[in-house]
Amino acid sequence: MGALELGIESNLIPIGISEVDRDHHELDRLISKLSVASVEENHDDFTKLFNDMVEHSREHFAREEILMRKGRCPSLELHSQEHAAILDTLARHAHSLMLKRQLLRVEQIRALGSWLNRHADTADKHMVDHLNRHYALSGISV
Ligand SMILES: [Fe+2]
Repeated sequence: MGALELGIESNLIPIGISEVDRDHHELDRLISKLSVASVEENHDDFTKLFNDMVEHSREHFAREEILMRKGRCPSLELHSQEHAAILDTLARHAHSLMLKRQLLRVEQIRALGSWLNRHADTADKHMVDHLNRHYALSGISV
């Protein structure tokens, strides 16, 4: 069974900064694979994919926050709070996974995918709009 049959489909729209789009694509890929590992109750695969996703999320958020700091994004604080909130959610899931060997259900994984789509389409899009305006003034592309 694939992720599509499980209702996990990508609605990610490229936002126009290749580094960020590459990261989003990788998160999307990990979310799809997690859903399959969850349905198959493959604990080892699930744990590895989940840990990869947490690590990739941390690195990706840090990259975005550097871009925002350099580009003097006024939404940096609010945007970073969204990153921190989803990392908290992932930490709670990691806790259940480690202590109770409890895999996320497909609905929970679908919610992570929805969060990513919504975040990319709002906070990340605002970031890109700001950076494009900011750098256009100085003649530098993002
Ligand atoms: Fe973001």
